[in-house]
Amino acid sequence: MTTLVETIAGVRQAVARARQRGLTIGLVPTMGALHEGHGALLRQARDENGLVVASLFVNPIQFNRSDDFEKYPRTLQTDLEYCQRLHADVLFAPSAGEMYPAQQLSFVEVAELGEGLCGASRPGHFRGVATVVAKLLNIVQPDRAYFGEKDAQQLAVLTRMVADLNFACTVVRVATVREADGLAMSSRNVRLTAKERQMAPAVYEALLATAAELRAGRDVESAKRAAGLVLEKFPEFRVEYLEVVDAETLRPVERMDRPVLVITAVWLESVRLIDNLRCDPR
Ligand code: PAJ
Repeated sequence: MTTLVETIAGVRQAVARARQRGLTIGLVPTMGALHEGHGALLRQARDENGLVVASLFVNPIQFNRSDDFEKYPRTLQTDLEYCQRLHADVLFAPSAGEMYPAQQLSFVEVAELGEGLCGASRPGHFRGVATVVAKLLNIVQPDRAYFGEKDAQQLAVLTRMVADLNFACTVVRVATVREADGLAMSSRNVRLTAKERQMAPAVYEALLATAAELRAGRDVESAKRAAGLVLEKFPEFRVEYLEVVDAETLRPVERMDRPVLVITAVWLESVRLIDNLRCDPR
């Protein structure tokens, strides 16, 4: 049974009871519209902890466009059923008023890591993410918190925040879950039209093409041209960025002499798709 909890006091009580029983706590923060990507995090949390807390909160301070916030899918009932199927113990789904009872004056800023790539076009986004995750970690105080590699920059920002600010929890990273045709699962995929959905796997193909060139010893500039060739097939794509960056620092590299991420954000009409692929030198 998954218990739906809407208050901070309520989730703290559930965690305290579990602690008294000697259970470890795993936290899976989400914004809902749960899919198999979230499922991978929930499954791993279930394997590794005595109490699994999923959180569902569409965090207003990480959206820099109000239309994106308003259009974000909200499906609490089916999300609760999904948590039930995956045997999560608690679904913590607070209101905005519960999380932000007063104007938020305190923020967590992870310099550098949060500034380039997605941070460049979404000012304040990672500050909003880091702040809400810091609040969730303080509310739940889990032993482990689970995040997906699909959001590679978010994962880098949060890993650094937990280290820099001495949160007593381990960040667990979970591999990206993809549809059969390679498209990374995302809550925003439901906003793609049927035609866009058919084109969308080209994003992953572009990453694969870039990675193949890098592995063949080509420099980053030529490798990026291979991605261009894949995406040019569909004029509907607008590439916001496609970069090859150091897997740890997220700084651009010129050739693959250490582990890198090929990382991209692409627009299909009004839907922004992000994806990345890790690539290691031989
Ligand atoms: P959301 O987009 O709901 O994602 C919640 C978690 O699921 C994140 O850690 C994300 O990386 C992971 N995830 C999403 N799609 C995935 C996929 N296809 N494969 C593997 N993992 C996937 O990310 C957020 O919410 C928010 O920014 C949050 C961290 C909850 C803070 O508000």
